[in-house]
Amino acid sequence: MHVLVTGGAGFIGSHTVVALLERGHDVTIADDFDNSSPEVINRIEQITGIRPALAEVDLRDEEAFDAAFATTAPDAVIHFAGLKSVGESSIDPLRYYEHNLSSTFSLLNAMKKHGVRTLVFSSSATVYGEGQEPPYGEDGGPLDANNPYGMTKVMLERILSDVADAEPGWHIALLRYFNPIGAHESGLIGEDPKGVPNNLVPYVLQVAIGRRPHVSIYGDDYPTADGTGERDYIHIADLAEGHVAALEKIVAIEGARAWNLGTGQGTSVKQLIAAVESASGIRIPAVIAPRRAGDLPRSWADTSRAEAELGWRATRDIADMARDGWRWQSQNPRGFDSVD
Ligand code: UD1
Repeated sequence: MHVLVTGGAGFIGSHTVVALLERGHDVTIADDFDNSSPEVINRIEQITGIRPALAEVDLRDEEAFDAAFATTAPDAVIHFAGLKSVGESSIDPLRYYEHNLSSTFSLLNAMKKHGVRTLVFSSSATVYGEGQEPPYGEDGGPLDANNPYGMTKVMLERILSDVADAEPGWHIALLRYFNPIGAHESGLIGEDPKGVPNNLVPYVLQVAIGRRPHVSIYGDDYPTADGTGERDYIHIADLAEGHVAALEKIVAIEGARAWNLGTGQGTSVKQLIAAVESASGIRIPAVIAPRRAGDLPRSWADTSRAEAELGWRATRDIADMARDGWRWQSQNPRGFDSVD
């Protein structure tokens, strides 16, 4: 298939592009490098020996995007592009709703106009909200989120489901990611947050490399085994392979279908820090800090639907995630800016 990957230069996008190319698909990346680096394209070429085509365009520019879409003439789309910081979304909700919704409308309009009906959408486990207990199953209850970023995912899942219900011929996969971490095993691509990282693992890796003095553990009085928050961390390469499996499956399923992409295992903040210490051989100073507003004590996936229907399961463990994440960070201490 020829796959248009929006946000294909980002963390999850770039690893998915590698998985698609390795599986023999053709790829065009649509990205405006607003929160990513053009160096990613060189790295993808280094890993796969193939340089993916690039449409440098902002999806919200409907005319420019439609023209790029027409030239690309893809068979299917994987849609990653969007804003993704929970904290920022609470400070500037309007920007988040406007950006994430209007870019998806622009994409759907182009898909309709050009007769492309196969879409894999980047959703999040954040849509399970606060009312459910892990493991989270796809049909466990109504979707909800406690911040505007998460609410854009809830709204877009609903919009995509309504479109698929109303018009025959759509094939839409809704992929709910748990906590993607790690990096490609080559160390050539990985997560490169701009500014101070919000998420645990990029922060811990920056402490390990010496860019930050210590990590704050947001609460050690949760009702968990060691008192720190538990999450379902999934290796980015497993997540990328999950996208290829979902794409290849959804072409045979009419309508919209949700799948969790996780491992089904919870790991605590302290266990995660210990894994990075073993992988790097560096002690990570940590201080206990107050809980972060909006954090859940525990979150992990029920992975049975993805296993049964996609024939996919995560195979890499926390040690693999810490090792590959550390390789990326130590080879690229300042992310893609490390290149001269
Ligand atoms: C966060 C988002 C979620 C988003 C996901 C994307 C929040 C509340 N949730 O999930 O909506 O889909 O990122 O990857 O921001 N922690 C620390 N110290 C830190 C950072 C985090 O102790 O400096 C803890 C957190 O309390 C949590 C765990 O580490 O228990 C993981 O946090 P994080 O990596 O931010 O992911 P989530 O909060 O699960």
